[in-house]
Amino acid sequence: MNNDIGIYIHIPFCKSRCYYCDFVSSINKENLIEKYVDAICTQILQYSEIFSENNIISVYFGGGTPSYIDSKYIKRIMDTLLLFSNNIKEVTIEINPGTVDKSKLNTYKSCGINRLSIGLQSTYNDILKSIGRIHTYEDFIKTLKLAKEVGFNNISLDLMYPLPKLTLDKFKKSVKEILSLKDIYNIKHISVYNLELHENTKLYFLIKEGFLELPSENEEYLMKNFLEKTLEENSFSRYEISNFACDGFSSIHNLNYWNQGQYIGIGASASGFLAGTRYTNLKDIRDYINGINNGKSVIYERIDLDKLDLMKEYIILQLRLSTGVNINKFKQRFNIDIYSMFSNELNDLFEKNLLALDNNSIFLTQRGKEVANLVWEQFI
Ligand SMILES: C[S@@+](CC[C@H](N)C(=O)[O-])C[C@H]1O[C@@H](n2cnc3c(N)ncnc32)[C@H](O)[C@@H]1O
Ligand code: SF4
Repeated sequence: MNNDIGIYIHIPFCKSRCYYCDFVSSINKENLIEKYVDAICTQILQYSEIFSENNIISVYFGGGTPSYIDSKYIKRIMDTLLLFSNNIKEVTIEINPGTVDKSKLNTYKSCGINRLSIGLQSTYNDILKSIGRIHTYEDFIKTLKLAKEVGFNNISLDLMYPLPKLTLDKFKKSVKEILSLKDIYNIKHISVYNLELHENTKLYFLIKEGFLELPSENEEYLMKNFLEKTLEENSFSRYEISNFACDGFSSIHNLNYWNQGQYIGIGASASGFLAGTRYTNLKDIRDYINGINNGKSVIYERIDLDKLDLMKEYIILQLRLSTGVNINKFKQRFNIDIYSMFSNELNDLFEKNLLALDNNSIFLTQRGKEVANLVWEQFI
């Protein structure tokens, strides 16, 4: 294993709750922000030794809505991180349209953030409203313009589908609309997430009770095909199941994750992977702050992976990437041949045409991408 390491920082505050959201995030807890940021900075310092011994390649501010809190807090966190490295390749912050102005973006730029991940979700205002987003498409365009003025040249967008009121025709127009903005605003990366309907959410209730309706499975399938074909034709290659990037703009932070690299999770509910152990911090914001202030461990779940677990997980993570599992790299990493360990599973998946082999790498076929869960099942 090399000594590259990523850092994930969770900011669990939002202005309001989107109807589909199942993330650990709170509304109306603004009074905790300052104390929470203090705790984050303390936790960063607790990792001093690890940060000094390793090469920090990426920082990712995720949420919640990191752009909702005052940018002076983001600067404080960055200043603390910069004590350990002033040469971090990729520093991303998730931002929601409607929560940033030019001054916030200027602060982000000046404190070392070089990548913005904007949660757009849809280009249609009626759809945005029906899923409880606080912003309009016009707010998104305004955010793009400000980001360009401030000098950001690595922009990523999040979209979701299928969504209520979304038709195939509307979806096609959305994708074309976004592509028309690509060169003007340096959009280099697009994440397109398949809607996960969580039982405890308002959207689940609205759909179950018939107030809203999702497009049919066939429409969803056609959307997926159109998306992949059109983005690929416009220099966005699908380097991971849900992610498309222009050449040289794949997310360093997420690639480290899919390459089973090490990363540290800072903040409530943040997860990390270190020395073969996956861990998650306490989810409750107050518990997290109190734990840090009292010098206690804030890790609430820890899973030590043995060699077999690591091999299986590595296969699943690598299969998510278009490059797949390289047989030589697998051998170098685990000192064992992948076929000697997993011949039954692999042969079964080759026979079902869910996996293919090319150039010494095993990867998902088109059919495999469509039913990826069936593939993962073999390695869980
Ligand atoms: C960590 S989330 C939060 C980012 C930011 N708070 C926002 O909402 O724009 C990152 C992305 O995950 C996606 N996402 C969130 N909930 C989802 C769900 N239930 N199903 C599919 N994608 C989801 C959205 O595209 C979102 O932008
Ligand atoms: S802004 Fe993002 S994290 Fe916050 S509620 Fe909406 S989807 Fe969830």
